[in-house]
Amino acid sequence: MSYNIRTREEYTRSYQNSVEKKTEFWEGIAKEFTWFKPWNTVMNCDMKEASFKWFEGAKTNITFNSIDRHLERKSEQTAIIFEPNMPNEQATHISYSVLHKKVCKMANLLSEMGINKGDRVAIYLPMIPELAVSVLACARIGAVHSVIFAGFSSGALAARVNDSSCKMVITADGSFRGNKTIDLKGIVDEALTQCPCVEKVLVAERTMTQIKMKNNRDYFLKPLLEKASEKHEAVHMDAEDPLFILYTSGSTGKPKGMVHTTGGYMVYTAYTFNNVFAYEPNDVYWCTADIGWITGHSYIVYGPLLNGATTLMFEGVPSYPNPGRFWEVIDKYKVNQFYTAPTAIRALAKESIEHVNRYDLSSLKIIGTVGEPINEEAWQWYNTNIGKKKCPIVDTWWQTETGGILISPLPHISPQIPTFATNPLPGIEPVLMDENGNESNENDTVGKLCIKYPWPSIARTIWGDHKRYKETYFTAFPGYYFTGDGAKRNKDGMFRITGRVDDVIIVSGHNLGTAPIEDAINEHPMVAESAIVGFPHDIKGNALYGFVTLKELPDGNKNIKLEINKIISEKIGPIAKLDRIQFTSGLPKTRSGKIMRRILRKIAEGDFSNFGDISTLLNPEIVEEIKNGRV
Ligand code: WTA
Repeated sequence: MSYNIRTREEYTRSYQNSVEKKTEFWEGIAKEFTWFKPWNTVMNCDMKEASFKWFEGAKTNITFNSIDRHLERKSEQTAIIFEPNMPNEQATHISYSVLHKKVCKMANLLSEMGINKGDRVAIYLPMIPELAVSVLACARIGAVHSVIFAGFSSGALAARVNDSSCKMVITADGSFRGNKTIDLKGIVDEALTQCPCVEKVLVAERTMTQIKMKNNRDYFLKPLLEKASEKHEAVHMDAEDPLFILYTSGSTGKPKGMVHTTGGYMVYTAYTFNNVFAYEPNDVYWCTADIGWITGHSYIVYGPLLNGATTLMFEGVPSYPNPGRFWEVIDKYKVNQFYTAPTAIRALAKESIEHVNRYDLSSLKIIGTVGEPINEEAWQWYNTNIGKKKCPIVDTWWQTETGGILISPLPHISPQIPTFATNPLPGIEPVLMDENGNESNENDTVGKLCIKYPWPSIARTIWGDHKRYKETYFTAFPGYYFTGDGAKRNKDGMFRITGRVDDVIIVSGHNLGTAPIEDAINEHPMVAESAIVGFPHDIKGNALYGFVTLKELPDGNKNIKLEINKIISEKIGPIAKLDRIQFTSGLPKTRSGKIMRRILRKIAEGDFSNFGDISTLLNPEIVEEIKNGRV
C-alpha cells in the first residue's frame, strides 16, 4: 500500500511531506480507495469557524471500500472471527464474500423497512456479528448509524435515540456478559415509551429468552433476512455525507452526538490502522473494545476491513470463565496484534500469572493500549508478560472526536518509553498551550494539548448543535482544536498524555461527565446539591467520589446511598455508580457560586497537605468539616 510507513526514514519523510505539502500528502493516501467520482478539493477547513470539508465533490461508499473492493482477491479470506462469550460455543468465521452477502441482505431489509439515505438508525446490540453487519449495512445505504453501547440504561438510550430522532432501533432479545444474561429488549421497550420517533424495531436472537414483541413495530431479524436479496448496489455518498453519530460525555448533562462523515473518516482510519498496527496480509488482529465506543468503530470494523484484514470480535469479558480468557483467545487464533485498555491490563495483572503462562502467546507481534493513561506498572507487566519484551507497545492517544489515532508510537520506529504515547502520526501537529494560551515551543514542558491543523477524520459537528461544538473545542484557544487533555513533552519531544483537564473522569476506560451524574443524583428527593470528583483506583484508574448535601437529616444514611446509586444506574448505567458517597452540610464555593472541585479532589484523594488559597471561598469553614467526614 502506498501509505505504509514501516521504517524510520519513511516516517521522517512522510511527516515532513504532511507538514510541507498537506494536500498532496492526504491525496496520496486517498487515492488508494475506490471513489465513484473524484474530489474537487482535498481540504477546505476553517478552525476558527469549526468548519471542515475533506474531498469535497467526491463520491464513495465506505462499505464498498471495506468489503466489495476486496472481493476479487480475498473473497474466501476471513473478514470477521466471532468468538462467543462461552468458550465452549462454536466460533464463527465470516469470509469477505459471506460478509458481503450478509451486509447486502441487511441493506435491502433496511430499505424495505423504510430507511432512506440520511435517516438515523440506533443500534443497541451486544458484540455479535449482527452489530458489525448492521453498521456496515447502514453505511451501505447512507443511513446514519448511532451505535449505543449496550451497557447503557433505558434512560440513557432514550435520550440518545431522541436527540438524533432515530427512526429505527436494531437490538437483540438479550445479551450474554460472563455468567449474566441481560434483558436488552426489555430495556429497549422501556426506553421506547419515551421515543415517538421510532417506527420500527429489528430484533436479533441471541439469548433465546422470552421477550415481548409489539405488533407492527417489532420484527425478528432472522426470517426477514432469509427472504432478503443478497444483491445490493452501494449508494454513492458524498464525501461529506454523515456516516455516523456517536455520543460522548461532556461538561453539561446532555450527551454530545459527535458526527463523523464518510470520506475523511475512511481515509484516516484506514491509514492509521495500517501503520499503528503494522498490519501485514494474513495477520489476525484483535481489539477487545466494544463497537459501542469509537475504538470499536474505527479499529474493529472500519480500519481493519478497509485494509482487508482479519478482525476478531469478542462477545465476552476478560474474567469469564476465568482471568485467562484473553490469553486463551490469543493462543486459539494465533493473534498477531492485540489492542486493549489499561483498565483490563491492571485487572488481569492482579491475577495469578499462571493464567497467562498456560497459553502460547508467541504469535503476538504488536500490543496496544487505548482509552486512558497507562501507568508504568501496568505498562511493564504488559511488556514483560504479554509482549515477552519483544512486542512494541503502541500506547495510542485519540478521542471519539478525532475519529482515529493521532499520537502513538509506530512499531519498530518510535522509541519505547513506558507511559509515553511518543510521536504524532504524519499529518498531525500537536502543540502544548501554556497558562497564557500561547504555544510552548520548547521541550521538557507541560501544557494543554491542542492540535494545530485539521486532519481528515476530525468530527464535523455535534448533532443539532454546531454552536456547542464550536464552543467546546475551538474557543479556548482560537484557531486550534482543544482536546480537553493535559500533556507533557519530554526533552526529546516525546508526548505523554497526563489526563483530562476538564469535567470528564475516565473510569475503567469509560468517559463520564460529572454533570450528568450530578443531575441524576439531584433527582433524589432528599438531595439538595452534589459534586462528583474522581480519585485514584487500582484497577479502574479512577473511581467516583460524590459529595452530597441533603435537604434534611435522614434517619440512617445507608439507604440513601443505595438509592443514589440506583438512580445513577437507571439514568446512566451501572458504569457511573459512585464508589464513595459523603454527606456534608455544604460544598466549598467561590463567591460567584462555583463549586471548588480542586479542594474536593484533594480530599477525595486523601491529600490534606495543601488546599491552596481558600480565603476566596464563600464558606471556608466547610473545608474542615468535609475533611473530617471523608469516607
Ligand atoms: C483518554 C477513546 C492517555 C484521553 C479512543 C482522551 C488516553 C479520552 C489515551 C478520549 C492514551 C485515550 N493515553 N489518555 N493512550 N487514549 N485517552 O472519546 O483523556 O472514549 O481525551 O476515545 O481518553 O476518550 P474516548
